[in-house]
Amino acid sequence: MVILAAGEGTRMRSARPKVLHSIAGRTLLQHVIAAAAAVEPAHVMVVVGHGKDEVIAHLDEVAPWVDTVVQQVRAGTGNAVRVAMDALIRGGHLTLEGSGPVIVLSGDTPLLTGETVRHLLLTHQTQAAVGTLLSAQLRDPAGYGRIVRDDAGDISAIVEDKDADLVVRAIDEINAGMYVFEVEQLLAALSQLTTDNAQGEEYLTDVLASLRERSHRLIAELVTDVDEILGVNDLVQLAQAAAIMRDRINEGWMRAGVAMIDPASVWIDVDVDLEPDVVLMPQTHLVGPTSVASGAQIGPGTTLTSCEVAADAMVRHTVAELAVIGPRATVGPFTYLRPGTRLGAGSKAGAYVEMKNADLGDGAKVPHLSYVGDATIGENSNIGAATVFVNYDGVAKHHTVVGRDVRIGSDSMLIAPVEIADGAYTAAGSVITDDVPPGAMAVGRARQRNITGWVARRRADTASAVSAHSAEEALKSTSSESGIPASKEGDQ
Ligand code: UD1
Ligand code: CA
Repeated sequence: MVILAAGEGTRMRSARPKVLHSIAGRTLLQHVIAAAAAVEPAHVMVVVGHGKDEVIAHLDEVAPWVDTVVQQVRAGTGNAVRVAMDALIRGGHLTLEGSGPVIVLSGDTPLLTGETVRHLLLTHQTQAAVGTLLSAQLRDPAGYGRIVRDDAGDISAIVEDKDADLVVRAIDEINAGMYVFEVEQLLAALSQLTTDNAQGEEYLTDVLASLRERSHRLIAELVTDVDEILGVNDLVQLAQAAAIMRDRINEGWMRAGVAMIDPASVWIDVDVDLEPDVVLMPQTHLVGPTSVASGAQIGPGTTLTSCEVAADAMVRHTVAELAVIGPRATVGPFTYLRPGTRLGAGSKAGAYVEMKNADLGDGAKVPHLSYVGDATIGENSNIGAATVFVNYDGVAKHHTVVGRDVRIGSDSMLIAPVEIADGAYTAAGSVITDDVPPGAMAVGRARQRNITGWVARRRADTASAVSAHSAEEALKSTSSESGIPASKEGDQ
């Protein structure tokens, strides 16, 4: 198997090599390799050139089982295949006798399916062909190589768009650039290629005419779904391919029991795993190896990257990465869960809550406006609004432990490292620097004192002073009418 990926991709207008652009969580090249894997090829040789270091590094990471060979000069698709064949022979992966046919694919056609590759190979083998190619009937065939047939309907040549005359340009059957060849005959034809054409390149497509001259059997198999051959040459086509891939993925999940009311706005990566009865609301993005269990509702407006969501959880207007969301947990709206967040069964991370490296016990709640970093929170504890787990002293991060059935008062600052034991309370507005024993109420704030008359003395003639004065007058008159003292102090 040979995959051509040495091209420059100039029209992408991007510093990144074309085949390393991604859709649905995989690079273009990864999609092609995944399709190629369907026929379990003995060896895959990827021809690299432009941006070769990046492409090779990427392949080492995502598909270490493929081989690469560098095409030094971009001398055409025929040259690229010869470079690959030489490398396969040098590596002992290919011999003239005993080797099966060679499949040639391009690295920039991410919508190709394994099914189509398998079918192409099967056609080649059952029809005992020497060369089999995938073709397509296009309403606008401009830019593609055309398949020229003789009176008997057999393939006589492929003529590139740039080399075509008006008659050939009118042909609507095009070459998709995916082939199966018998090794020996391919090598013979490759050795005869010339650069005598409009682009001054060695065309792989000239191999077909050469095989035909030697009366070898050639077959063109029409692809059923023309989307499969869409090549990505610029960012417009990348977006088109992404949309087609999205529709394909979403249709698959809907048929598997996943509900979406607006599938056009739902983006699911290839590596995502969903169960039946998951509901995906509009503007939901599931990225990387994210999994969602039955009965969970995700979205609207939610991006989950590499997250695990358990059954019946509800996650709305949330951004989360590397978080584990337990069964029946509720998250959002407007919640940010960072790596290492684990939410227990029935727990809650509510509005304007950010969490990181934090374990929230079963039934525990962080309902509003809080930051929870580097913490363990026990079962059924409640973290009052606007609490901050102060985990960073400017140099290092520290851990906070909150026991079970704890009540943290609103606007508490928990200065880590600190431990609040089971069943303890903290008073609202406290700064907690010391451990709190079980069942204690920790008060970590100055006691309130009221300096009466301060506004009249220090802010005379302000609106506050005027309002305070009228309120005092009103209190005096009601208390004199009813005989009730004007202030609490009067009680004592
Ligand atoms: C090629 C076919 C054309 C077909 C079309 C389908 C040839 C001569 N033409 O044209 O009949 O309709 O694909 O999309 O083959 N590459 C290399 N090294 C090179 C040149 C190209 O690795 O020296 C790689 C490219 O990176 C790409 C693939 O080969 O992945 C195809 O090359 P490209 O230049 O895109 O060929 P097209 O002109 O599209
Ligand atoms: Ca192309």
